[in-house]
Amino acid sequence: MRIDIISLFPEMFAGFLASSIPARAVKKGLLELELHNLRDYSTNRHKSVDDYPYGGGAGMVIGIEPVDKCISALKAQRDYDEVIFTTPDAPVLDQPVANRLSLCRNIIVLCGHYKGVDERVREHLVTREISIGDYVLSGGELAAAVIADAVIRLVPGVLNDETSALSDSFQDGLLSPPVYTRPEEYKGWRVPEVLMGGNDRLKAEWRHEKALERTKERKPYLLNNQDHGSIQSV
Ligand code: ADE
Repeated sequence: MRIDIISLFPEMFAGFLASSIPARAVKKGLLELELHNLRDYSTNRHKSVDDYPYGGGAGMVIGIEPVDKCISALKAQRDYDEVIFTTPDAPVLDQPVANRLSLCRNIIVLCGHYKGVDERVREHLVTREISIGDYVLSGGELAAAVIADAVIRLVPGVLNDETSALSDSFQDGLLSPPVYTRPEEYKGWRVPEVLMGGNDRLKAEWRHEKALERTKERKPYLLNNQDHGSIQSV
């Protein structure tokens, strides 16, 4: 998979790129992640990419020209499945969208900034808009990193144990059940007895029950229109 991120602050991705999962994906040859500085596509000598909004109002607006030049340069080299724009006024990222994006070959993520981008970018160049939550960040870079991370870890082969992505919270419409590791008892707090026994069926039932219980308590909206009658591979 290839992800091209267009940003005014590409240096913000350095830490993310060096971190374990994306770095491992690149090393394994499963991911190409390229950063593009929108300023490199500016058409003026000040390298600016934004301007005052027509009709007045506060804040600067990223113009269509540098965005179009950058996206066109990328599209001249390969086809893209999606051109994503990060913006708080879009639908919020969820696991089904991350799953869908992980099947793409090439995607572009355009990071929003300032007051926004010229609406014609959204109308004519962008194929999907994503928010990462109902709050406003100072720029789209963190949102782009969140989207990239959620997608990259789903690309087959990126995680060592592929089942660990499949048994994530949300993947079967349920939150994950609680997990425990050694010691069996700490300060008198014990690991549930059923997990210590040898009965795999009972353990699977317990996990499914706890996953359901947790989902009902914490995110009941995940349960709508879903069939949770069978024990999933947790
Ligand atoms: N840019 C600013 N806030 C954002 C958000 N919540 N999601 C995506 N992009 C953003």
